[in-house]
Amino acid sequence: MSDAATAPAPPPPSPLAKEVRRRRTFAIISHPDAGKTTLTEKLLLFSGAIQIAGSVKARKASRHATSDWMEIEKQRGISVASSVMQMEYRDCVINLLDTPGHQDFSEDTYRVLTAVDAALMVIDAANGVEPQTRRLLQVCRARNTPILTFVNKMDREVQEPLNLMDEIERELGMTVVPFTWPVGMGKVFGGVMDLRKNQMRVFKPGEDRANDNDEIIDGLDNPLLAERFGAQFDQASGEIELVRDAAPAFDEAEFLAGRQTPMFFGSAVNNFGVQEVLDSLVDLAPPPGVRPAIQREVGPEEGKFSGVVFKIQANMDPSHRDRIAFLRVASGKFTRGMRLKVVRSGKELRPNTVVTFMSQRRELLDEAFAGDIIGIPNHGVLQLGDTLTEGEALQFTGLPFFAPEMFRMVEVADPLKTKQLKAGLQQLGEEGAIQVFKPVAGSVLMLGAVGQLQFEVVAHRLEHEYGCKARISPCRFSIARWVTCDDADGGERELNRFIEGNSHRMAYDAVNAPTLLVEYAPELRAIESNWPKIKFHALREHA
Ligand code: G4P
Repeated sequence: MSDAATAPAPPPPSPLAKEVRRRRTFAIISHPDAGKTTLTEKLLLFSGAIQIAGSVKARKASRHATSDWMEIEKQRGISVASSVMQMEYRDCVINLLDTPGHQDFSEDTYRVLTAVDAALMVIDAANGVEPQTRRLLQVCRARNTPILTFVNKMDREVQEPLNLMDEIERELGMTVVPFTWPVGMGKVFGGVMDLRKNQMRVFKPGEDRANDNDEIIDGLDNPLLAERFGAQFDQASGEIELVRDAAPAFDEAEFLAGRQTPMFFGSAVNNFGVQEVLDSLVDLAPPPGVRPAIQREVGPEEGKFSGVVFKIQANMDPSHRDRIAFLRVASGKFTRGMRLKVVRSGKELRPNTVVTFMSQRRELLDEAFAGDIIGIPNHGVLQLGDTLTEGEALQFTGLPFFAPEMFRMVEVADPLKTKQLKAGLQQLGEEGAIQVFKPVAGSVLMLGAVGQLQFEVVAHRLEHEYGCKARISPCRFSIARWVTCDDADGGERELNRFIEGNSHRMAYDAVNAPTLLVEYAPELRAIESNWPKIKFHALREHA
């Protein structure tokens, strides 16, 4: 008798486990203009979540029309806010998180990346790897996030595919495994060869069709291909031979560890190559996994609910003055009206109006499972990094705050509006839009950011949402470090001694973490060597 016949059959998965295993939660990342919005829209279209292409952009436009603070986004043509979309495809539930592409908003993006299990990287085939892609990839790599790569705009004159592949490998430090390969490009773009299904999908420009009416030619050695695509086909065949000799085979473990990326070619605006990506997301991207908390690791199929707030957005709709905490479910099942504990504060929460984000619409949500993103409207009870449970004292780790690289002083233009300024900064700080520092000596608040644009957004939002004009002026500092001291080294006493001794350059951030602010790197180095027991951190993980 074979082993298979004697081994006991594994027990059937529980209803909860079934729900978890059909979840795929991923972020879509790219340098601005590579085609992220277009591809997002096409993924929604192919999954059946929307019927007409154009609604993502249209919705973007209508948001601009109704939302005052988004005016900045309109003016600059960049996406300031990240958004969440859920769709069903085959038997899977896909949660897609958009990320702001502009580098000034990278902090927000980094935090979004902590909430996903995989990422889809969109590359403009003409421009190759661009700076913002590189930065985002570093974060994914640090977390071993599996990445799928979509090379977009093959309908244009672009770089040779072999060069692109080489560039991605070199620049991003990953092995690339092509799943499809282009035949020609630009005016003579013939389509893509599917190296796994051994067939060619013929390109036809146009937005009005779905992939299922694409022409498919079976067999990559089919004489029809050489006849129809001539020199382009010969070149592609030669390239594929080279690639097959040189590139390793797809290795699931390497992919899941974020070291190998499957690569697809296509043209999002022409709905071309989108289906392959969507299918691969379902087939290759992992379901929700175990997430580390300080106390223990939390499995997605555990019965009790837990989740972590990775993003807060206030006043998404100015007519309602709402503030939504985006929470990634880590385990168990969320049901509307259930009692939840905010572990940091011990406060109880009974959210009745939790929202989910179905293909761009906000809807009331009844239940959610690991991998899902839910939005909880609240008035400040929830902060970035907060863990919610059914009662267990758990604190998830890993939500990063980066030491700001730019600083400004902020004062109110009209002294009667001081209260509004404080309230506004408190909220914007909690939201992660900016970091706010209270100096130990002195009363003028300071703002810290990783990008100049953050200051402009904050000034704009203070004026339009909180009714106070802020005076933002230059500040001498340029480097920040959070400071801590281990108990073995004297802990609190040593830290207090440090804070007193450096009070002219010390401040407290939004969660009262002591922060050293200095002007120059040599100054920091001198302080570091004078205070060997103190630890200086460029990154603070919410804990
Ligand atoms: P982003 O979110 O990454 O910033 O990029 P987005 O999708 O907005 O696309 C940027 C531009 O690239 C858009 O043109 C879009 O139409 C175009 N684009 C996207 N995919 C393809 C493709 O496969 N081929 C070609 N040729 N172009 C593509 P735009 O002129 O800036 O905007 P629009 O007026 O077309 O909307």
